[in-house]
Parts: sequence; structure tokens; C-alpha cells
Amino acid sequence: MNSRRNFLQQSLASLALSVMPTGVMAGQRIRHYQLTAEPTPHFFDDKPLATDLLLYNRQSPGPLISARKGEILDVEFVNNLDQPTTIHWHGIRNINEMDGVPDLTQASVEPGERYHYRFPVNDAGTFWYHAHNRAWEQVALGLYGPLIVRDQSETTGEHDVLIVADDWLINENEQIDATSFGNLGHWSHGGRLGNALSINGQFSPSIPIPTNGLMKLRLINTANARILTFALSGTLSDAPSSASAGELPMRVICVDGSPCEPFRTDRVTLGPAQRVDVEINDASQLQTLLETSTGKSLEAASFKPVSTAQNEYRPLKDPRPYYARPNTTNAKVVNIHMQGGAMGNLSSAMFKGEMRSLRDLAMNESKLWAFNGNIGGYDLALTEVNLGKVVVLSVWNDTAWSHTMHLHGQHFWVKSREFGKNTHHLLRDTYLMQPGEKADLTFVADNPGLWLFHCHMLEHHAAGMGGVIAVS
Ligand code: C2O
Ligand code: CU
Repeated sequence: MNSRRNFLQQSLASLALSVMPTGVMAGQRIRHYQLTAEPTPHFFDDKPLATDLLLYNRQSPGPLISARKGEILDVEFVNNLDQPTTIHWHGIRNINEMDGVPDLTQASVEPGERYHYRFPVNDAGTFWYHAHNRAWEQVALGLYGPLIVRDQSETTGEHDVLIVADDWLINENEQIDATSFGNLGHWSHGGRLGNALSINGQFSPSIPIPTNGLMKLRLINTANARILTFALSGTLSDAPSSASAGELPMRVICVDGSPCEPFRTDRVTLGPAQRVDVEINDASQLQTLLETSTGKSLEAASFKPVSTAQNEYRPLKDPRPYYARPNTTNAKVVNIHMQGGAMGNLSSAMFKGEMRSLRDLAMNESKLWAFNGNIGGYDLALTEVNLGKVVVLSVWNDTAWSHTMHLHGQHFWVKSREFGKNTHHLLRDTYLMQPGEKADLTFVADNPGLWLFHCHMLEHHAAGMGGVIAVS
């Protein structure tokens, strides 16, 4: 990856000379990046026709941004689009004014303008960045990229493999289907789903892995709405006779940038915006990456052993989440009743101070979803809490659809039902909820600011599934 070269070219010893935002201390090492958002004709693989995307630095996915835990990311951003935009650093416990939410934490970056993002990265893990204005269109057209923060002790090489998955909707002329943007059918159902799965910007690529030994895959779902399920096919050497093909078990070690109590699974499901890091015991057994969410096994990518890995994979020495599961005895409980969408039970809702029928809201405002009877947006206050308070978001998905609920600014603990029949206590920033599910998302409100809580099926967010939590 050419971004690995960029990584090496960066100055390792620069010091903060300009004005530093809160949270940045003198003497911290700074990683400089430059991102430009611009319309880019893009060729998918060997397709003869280019399709018009919106990309960062004319790449899909956008360039890999990487840093070491404790460093400062300094990103000079230029908007060469013909529409306003911002960048959100998904999963980073950010300084509020660097969080990239237009009209909430910053003004939109207008066409031709620049914006300087600068913030410390205090957690090692797998993150990503993406546009946060008209995200249902800007992200679907390619405005996103991976962000990896490594612990000082971690090494890089083929044993640490990035899998950035996206789901594109492509029409019969091999162009992005632009007529479907804003389609109410999609917005009221599971969002705008695609028909072509890319891995690291390509269809069915071949991905270099080490010839043997322990390795790690970092899976990121950047789709605007598609829930993806991955499995690995390989040769099972411990099978009775000679090697036989089957699904290789994975060991989940990290979710949404937080280490977890490791567990084994055959399938990893990721809602939009979620990340899961898994270890594979023996790279020599690994053959293909399968995507199984449709009930069929599609080959998403194949793996190609290369013997150039210079560093052995070293698991994190003392992996732990940034805080332990808090005691909730004196917690502030915030009930969030999610309703709306097709086949739902919401008949009317409050929108801009007025009670209106869902039919009227759908037809005239493209609003379809509500929290506690309110159509949400960047202006809907869900709660105000004091800094340091333990908060339980008691969320009830009273709709016929899955939702992938994301909290900005801090991560929450959840008893996850996302990995088969066993539950797992996980520290996440995005939780995939099934229809009818009730879940408590518990967090310590330790980051001051205005933080969005919303569904990361980006059409759902645009249609009302979102609100703001104020921490001060
Ligand atoms: Cu990844 Cu509010 O977003
Ligand atoms: Cu949703």
C-alpha cells in the first residue's frame, strides 16, 4: 500500500508550534496528513467505464491514516467538492470541536475552503473516518477511509491485514446508481443497499498474508446500510485425514477499537460503521474471505501467501478497554424508544414543534423515524448530563428493522447479542440491534461536549434517527 510509504515519510520529530486545541500537550509526536475531497472518475477494476465518485485524495478507500497511541493527528483538509462537507473520526474519543459534525461541533467546510483537524489519539485500535454532511450520499459515493492507531509495541506487516468492506449500488451501465439517492422506499426499509461488495476498493482482490503463523485481520464495514457477515474458508490441518476444506475459526480480540475478552467464532457480523479485529492461528490454512449475509457464501477476497513479512506478529501485551464496566447504581437512565419506518407502529411524531402524521412527514419532509415520538436531528436534545456521570441509554428497538446505533465522543458497554447465542460484554461505539431488541448502552460521560447518538444506517439517520447528548 502506498500509504505505508506515506507513513514512513512523515516527520517523526515535529513539535507543536502553532496554537494547540485543548487536549493537545506540547511535546507529543505529530503525524501530518493532507486530505482533499473531490469528485473523481473512478474505474472499478477492469471495468471499461469510469463512474463518478466523491473521494479523498482520488483514492477508494481514502488513504490509510495511521498513528501510534498517544500521538497527535494533524490533518489539513481541503474541500474541492461542489457541496459543503466535514470529516468525522469515527470511534476516536475526540475533542468536541474536532468531531466533525456540521452545525453541531463545527461549521460545514464550504466548497473551496480548508479545515485543520488536530487531535490526540489515545486508544490503539481500528477506526475510520468519513464525511458527515449528507453522509447517506457522500459516504455512499466514497468519502471515507481507514484510520489505525497502534500501540507502541505493535509491529506492521502482512500479519496485520486491513479489510475495508463496502457495498456499492451499480446500475446496468456500470455507473453508481444515483437515481436511488433519497429514495423513500430505501429510507423506510433497511436503507440503500448495494449489489457489489468491494474489499479495499476492489472486487474480489487477492490479499497478501504471511505464509504461516499467527496473524490478525482488521474488518471494517463502511457501507451506508448493508449488514455484512464474514467467514473464512481454509484447510483444517487438524482434520482427521489429509487437509480438508472448511470454515476456519477466528478469535475476536477487539471490537470498535477496544480490546475485549477474546472469544472464538466462525462468523463475524458487522453493522455499518462497526469494526472487529480477529486473530487466525495459522495463516497457512487461510484461503478465502467469504461474505454470507445473503445465506449464500460469496467469495469477497482471496488470500495470497507472501514470504516477505519481516516482523513476527506480536499480540498486544496488556490488552484492555479504556475503562472497566461501570457500576450503574447511581446512573442516569435515559429511555430511548425507537419507532417508525415501514411496517412500524408510529402514526405521528413531533417535528420542529409540530405534531404531524407519519404519512405527511414521509411525503413532505422525508422523515420516517423517531426517538420517543420526536423526529430527531442535530437539534434534538436527548439528555444533558454532568461530566463524569454514569449514563444508561436504555434503548428499545420497537421497529421492524435492524439499527446500528452509534455514540460519538465516548464508548459504551453493552451486553452484546451480536455473536451467536452467547452474550458478550463489549465496549463499543456502535451496536447492531435486532428488531424488538432492548439494550442498555452504559457509558461514563467523561468527555465534555455535544455528542451525537444516531443510527449509522445513514438513510435512517437522515430520516430522523438521531439526537444529541450534552455532557458538561
Ligand atoms: Cu460514523 Cu455520526 O458517525
Ligand atoms: Cu437504523
